[in-house]
Parts: sequence; C-alpha cells; structure tokens
Amino acid sequence: MSLLNLPSEILTLVLLPLDLRSLISCSETSRHVKAVIDGSPLLQYRLASQIACVEYIPPENTHVTSSDRISALAKLQNGFEELRPSSTHTVQMDNCPIMHSYGLAGGIFAMTEPARKAFRTLSLASIDIQPPAWERLELSEYIYDFGLDPEQDLLVIISSVLHPDNPPPPDTGFNLRFYRLSTLSPHEEAPALIMLPSTSIVDWIDFEVDCCEDKVAVTVFFLHGSVDHLLVYDWKTGELCLDLTDDDSYSACTFLSRDVLLLGKRSGTLDLWAFGRSPDYVCEREVSLLLPPLPPGLLYFPMRLEYSPKGQCYKGQQSRKFRASYAESVVALRITCEMEEDRSLSKDWIVILSRKTLLQHLQSPENRGVHLLWEQWGPSTSRWLPCDSDASGRIWPTVICGQRLIILRHGGFIQLLDFNQYRWRKSLANGNATDRQDEDADEDQDGLGDVRLGYISKISQQSVDWKGVMLDDEWIVGINDTTDTDGKFSLEIWRFG
Ligand SMILES: *[C@@H]1O[C@H](CO)[C@@H](O)[C@H](O)[C@H]1NC(C)=O
Ligand SMILES: *[C@@H]1O[C@H](CO)[C@@H](O)[C@H](O)[C@H]1NC(C)=O
Repeated sequence: MSLLNLPSEILTLVLLPLDLRSLISCSETSRHVKAVIDGSPLLQYRLASQIACVEYIPPENTHVTSSDRISALAKLQNGFEELRPSSTHTVQMDNCPIMHSYGLAGGIFAMTEPARKAFRTLSLASIDIQPPAWERLELSEYIYDFGLDPEQDLLVIISSVLHPDNPPPPDTGFNLRFYRLSTLSPHEEAPALIMLPSTSIVDWIDFEVDCCEDKVAVTVFFLHGSVDHLLVYDWKTGELCLDLTDDDSYSACTFLSRDVLLLGKRSGTLDLWAFGRSPDYVCEREVSLLLPPLPPGLLYFPMRLEYSPKGQCYKGQQSRKFRASYAESVVALRITCEMEEDRSLSKDWIVILSRKTLLQHLQSPENRGVHLLWEQWGPSTSRWLPCDSDASGRIWPTVICGQRLIILRHGGFIQLLDFNQYRWRKSLANGNATDRQDEDADEDQDGLGDVRLGYISKISQQSVDWKGVMLDDEWIVGINDTTDTDGKFSLEIWRFG
C-alpha cells in the first residue's frame, strides 16, 4: 500500500517524526501529502519549531493546542526580531547590588550576594508577584563561582572557607557542591566533592564552571588568562573524567556536547577533546582547528563567552513553551589578538561558531589527530564580530541563548543578533536584511577572507545605558546601575512572547 493512500490521520503520524528536510521533500512529492501537511496544525507546529530551532514539545503533554503554539512561537520570534518586549518589569536591587557572579538560564536569574556567602534565585515567570519571590541559600563558606543547568535541575557551587581576596595557601581544597536549582537543597544524587587544584604559589585564583548533562567542567585560573587546571567530573557518580594540568596554555573551555569539549589555545588552535561512552575510554584531543595565521608580533587569546545556552523552566513548566535547541545553538568565544609590546594594538573579537559543524569534524575517524587549517574548516561556519568590552574589559556572562546573541554596544545600545539560518535566508530573499557584506566590510579581520555565518541584527532604538545584559529563551535582563547619580541599582526585566 502506498503512503499516499493512507488516511490523513495516519499519514500525519507517519510524517510527525520526520526532520525538516524530509518533511519539505515529502510535501513536494504529492499534492495529497502537501495538503495533509498544510492542513495539520500538528505538522505545522512541528515544521515551525524545527525552523525556529526550538525543542519540539508534543502538544499532548500540555493543554495548549498546536495552533496556539504556532502563534505563541510567532509572537516570541517577532518580539525578539523587533526587540519589542511584551512586558517589562523593574526589580529594585539597592539593598543587594549585583557585585559578583550572576547568570540567567531557563527563566531563572541567579546571583551571589555581595558578601559572597549566600546565593539567590528569582524565577522570572513569577515576576508579577510583589515583592519578588527570591529563593535564598546561605553557606558557611565563600562562593567562588557557580553554574546553572535548569534542564538537569542543577546548581553547582564552588566554595571555600578561604576568603576570595586572600591568596590560597598551597594545596587548598575547594568544594564542589551540587544543589537542586528548584529547591536550593543539596542534591541527593550528587555528594559534594573536594577539588584540589594543583596550586603551589598562587596569589590569585579563579574558576569557571560549565555543565552538560551528567558532566561538569571546572577550569581553574591562577594567572589572568591561562587555564592552569581543568577538571571534568561526572557529577552523578563523583568520578573524575579528565584532569588536565596544563602546559599547553589553554585559555578557554566549553562543552560542545556531553562527550566533546572545545579547548581554545593561545597558540591559535581550537582543540576538540572527546570522551567515549565506554568507561575505559580516555578523553583525548581528537582534532585541532587552526585559527587564521596572525601577522608577526600578534598572539591569540581565546576566552569563553558562552555561559549557559541551554535550559528550561523546572517550575511553572506549563507556562514555558519554548526552549532553544542545544544541538542547533551557536558557540561563542571571545578572541583577543594581542600585541605583547603594545596592547593598544590588541583587538577583541566575538567569534560565533556553528556547534553542529564543529561536531561534524569528529564524525570521520580519519580526522583523528589531525590539524585542520583555517581554510579547511572555518570560513563558512564562523563569524568574527568586533567587540567593545566595557571599561574594565569585562563581558557580561550570559549573552547567548540558542542562536541569539546579545551585546551591549558603546553608548548603551543593545544589539541582538540572530544566527538562525532560515530566518537569515528568508530576510535576504525578502530583500529586507542585507547579507551585511558592505556593512561588515571593515569588521572582518585581515586575512579572514569571506567569513560568512549569516545573521540578522537589531539594535535598540534608544540607549538603555545598562551596565550589563543577559538573554535566555524568553527574557532579556539588564543591569541598571545608577548608584553614582541616584544611589539606585535595579534589574530591568523584559519579557518576550
Ligand atoms: C524590513 O524590516 C523592517 C523593520 O524590521 C520592516 O518595518 C519592513 O517592513 C521590512 N521590509 C520588508 C520589505 O520586509
Ligand atoms: C535605570 O534606573 C533609573 C533610576 O535609577 C531610571 O530612571 C531609568 O529609567 C532606568 N533605565 C532603564 C533603561 O530602565
């Protein structure tokens, strides 16, 4: 029996699991199939969510119909595209300014309190409640850094009895503590671990945490810039999966997937390290991707920019409709080209890479151990954007979510970039957005040639003069610090969709 003779209800179920490309080619095969696809809200929603690169949530799991989802998705997309929030809120923070680490993921804003011995979260979905319903976790230790993974309901905190301003004595242990993000109670599946960074004489220590599924990576910095120790744990078993004390001057580390780490090296390569699924598999460098060669005197300095591009709301799950697809999300690095003798000649870039394309290099076994030249891997899958850091050289942490990137530009303007390739091509076809070749002509680094990961860009109409900005699937959060003029400090919360 041919597919074409199936009743449309059955055909709908047959077509539902298909990916975008297959769905489109099926609709081209016959009028009947096309009519079924066009007439089925379920299939239309499946198409729309794949085009938007958001995770598909089967409508039967919720009370929201497919048609409602399609329009909610469109509303969300248009809101972001126009940088026009559907509502805005201000949360006054005068009594508790945001001095240290903070983050945004899955509708949760999280921060450490100024004394660094307490941690707070605010579920943005509950922002209408007055006063805002903060959850609070008090520690008897100082918080050095934290990582959020709402998808795993996980909060990772690095803490120590040692005050962060004091140089750690040799062989100081640091605690890696795991909590449930929803309740801020110790995670029953994950006992605390003690990390021993290989400190000898250190006058300063800093950490970065990245989580992906069952893994958590902690990078330890002793000197500004280079990773001195990299530890990767399976947080559910406490097993140490990778322990890299580094002479290789790695300076950036981020997960590309549960099994692959990207490590940026000062010599100008991005190394992909892979973990195997089998327990006795050693994590190894599989492929080195070379950055473009630099003129003499210049050095690369790659840093992590991405914070937590994944996540969904663990509370009020039903109110949350969309979550960016992690597999489709882009990876962002901040790469400085540094002139040692004359730092004024240094230049900062935000480099956007396609996660999927990076991972494809690992799929061919003959790539194992090879170095790929920039021309062989880079131009078509990356974008180099000149980056203005704030006066202290700092980039605020959560700037990327899915395929969107948000940047504070000089003068307090926010710029929202969208690397969704469907929307980009569509806007090109509409003759609306340009392919930005001309506008970007002076943005491209010498010798990068035709670097083209296309994007759509929107700059805020008015200057917001925020000190920092964060982004997730439904929210933009601005840090409004006017303590100098009126002693006020607030979070400006924009909701989309
Ligand atoms: C292009 O975009 C602008 C603003 O986003 C919109 O007002 C305009 O109608 C669009 N033009 C076309 C031809 O789509
Ligand atoms: C920042 O806060 C000040 C009050 O201190 C307020 O007047 C201003 O509108 C806020 N800016 C934004 C962009 O919300």
